Amino acid sequence: MTHAAADQLDGVSAHTLPARVELSFQPGGQRVRVPPGVTLFDAASWNGIAIDSTCGGHGTCKKCKIRIIEGSAPVSPLDARAFSPDELRGGWRLACRAFAEGDVQVEVPPLVTRPKAATVGVGRQVILRPAAQKRYLELTEPSLADQQTDIERVLAALDDLELRVDLAVLRGLGQRLRAADFKVTAVIVDDVLIDVQAGDTTGRLLGIAFDLGTTTVVATLLDLSTGTPLAVSSMLNKQQPFGADVITRISATMLDPAALDTMSRLAHETLAELAAEVCGQAEADPSDVAEVAIAGNATMTHIALGIDPEPLGVAPFIMAARELPEVLATDLALPAHPRARTFVFPAFGAYVGGDITAGLLASGMNRDARTRLFIDIGTNCEIVLGNRDWLLATAAPAGPAFEGAAIRCGMRAAEGAIEGVSVTTDGLTLTVIGDCEPAGLCGSGLVDAVAGLVKAGLLDHSGRLVPDEIAAGLAPAIAPRLTMLGNERVFVLHWLGEPGDVAASVYLSQRDIRELQFAKAAIATGWHVLLDEAGLAPSDIQQVLLAGSFGSYLSPASAIALGLVPRLPVLRVVSAGNVAGEGAKMALLSMRERAAALALLGEVRYVELSDRDGFNDAFVDQLRFPD
Ligand code: FES
Repeated sequence: MTHAAADQLDGVSAHTLPARVELSFQPGGQRVRVPPGVTLFDAASWNGIAIDSTCGGHGTCKKCKIRIIEGSAPVSPLDARAFSPDELRGGWRLACRAFAEGDVQVEVPPLVTRPKAATVGVGRQVILRPAAQKRYLELTEPSLADQQTDIERVLAALDDLELRVDLAVLRGLGQRLRAADFKVTAVIVDDVLIDVQAGDTTGRLLGIAFDLGTTTVVATLLDLSTGTPLAVSSMLNKQQPFGADVITRISATMLDPAALDTMSRLAHETLAELAAEVCGQAEADPSDVAEVAIAGNATMTHIALGIDPEPLGVAPFIMAARELPEVLATDLALPAHPRARTFVFPAFGAYVGGDITAGLLASGMNRDARTRLFIDIGTNCEIVLGNRDWLLATAAPAGPAFEGAAIRCGMRAAEGAIEGVSVTTDGLTLTVIGDCEPAGLCGSGLVDAVAGLVKAGLLDHSGRLVPDEIAAGLAPAIAPRLTMLGNERVFVLHWLGEPGDVAASVYLSQRDIRELQFAKAAIATGWHVLLDEAGLAPSDIQQVLLAGSFGSYLSPASAIALGLVPRLPVLRVVSAGNVAGEGAKMALLSMRERAAALALLGEVRYVELSDRDGFNDAFVDQLRFPD
């Protein structure tokens, strides 16, 4: 959420808003679900939908005009200056100031300005200067008086650059120049001439940004000359059969020497399928993809590049390299230009990987004067505290609770998953992905349910479901949901099957609550240690960014209630979206941002949790749910 949206939400109780709202963008028809308070501008940009802007969502350019065609979005003070009363009645709003209080359908007009900058990440405005570029050249033909070689002729027309030349470019160069009457386009990535194409192909310069997650992989196809996202697609990482988290994938390579090759191939297949999918969606030729960027954790990038990940999995947890040598798209079997380059984000450490480097870049942690806390919640939770002057990072093993694994009725955030739970003493309201019969509980629903039960008094602060008689006194309407399954206490969220059939229903068990407690304690210990290290108190934190595919969907109010994040005003806890993917986009669009990502390696100090004195005591202290 931007400051503007936060300002606008002031006066609206965060508790009166729904857990999630569905936004549907026309004419493309893309549907996205976001926490309320995320601006339409951010939601669109995170999902690859381009909205006009030259100020990057800061409310100064007034170009981000969109129209609400169904549902409503409050009129912001800036809207009143940008639109006539008739336009406001017609649903026109500035997207960077608009947020949905309920489900809305939004019409996005086509872009009118050819952008010189693109908005990515958490309101980051990036001046377009990609490492990949195309130059159209009209060369003079050789003669007896001018016997320059073919490549000298090309390079002379590019004399502001000092280029290396791929051998493959020379192979067909002579014929290509002559067939095209010496009117050609040079394709350059960084300092390498990767192709000379017949005619003017400058209108077709593409890149693909990948967020290579352990669970999910997301690809965004970008027009590199305008910064416009052309298509986005995601799928489960095909390495899933080798385990849900990085530890099980590393273990697989230790148990079976063939597993590394197989997992490497599966990573390539996942990336290739997505690349083909986004190119297909945009009706683009994959050979116009000149560059690829990949943000992934250290284990995912090691495996994708065929590097043995075993040392990452055993103390002292050492990577093969923080920065990787040049990688070609063909090394990853990607459908792209045969000599396209791949930028793989460097990693800080075995458990604070390139996805976090990308996330810090996208959230501007290294540029913002405010002291902020960045938390990427997953099986391994990465935590970074700091501002533009200093940054501290750590990794906390949160376990699989948030991914739905290890939770009895847990499931991924897919159709049928309860993603939001509101518990009052009078009843229970569930938000279910796909608005269908609940089939299970995903991480955000788990956090909401536990926070709600603590608030209603049905779960005590030690994490124990209270006895029936106490529950009946506190919340008679929902107390009957507290029951036994075998010899375990459970709370039924949604009854299924025959009346009273707990086993067939969607429920939360005492053991599930313990799993969440351990995860929460690991994360809270992590940020407490970083605060201690910096000599700061929780109240010194000016903003908490919840990142990653799970964190972004978490309800800030529930996260605060459980002590997962510091107790701060709810509007200071914001969803940052898929920052790893956004960082990958930034690296493709701007050489300057890419250099900043590399510089981050020297700016972040890693704090190891496990060998700290008092770590265990701190962890035990954090198991308690706050009063
Ligand atoms: S993006 Fe510039 S005013 Fe909204």
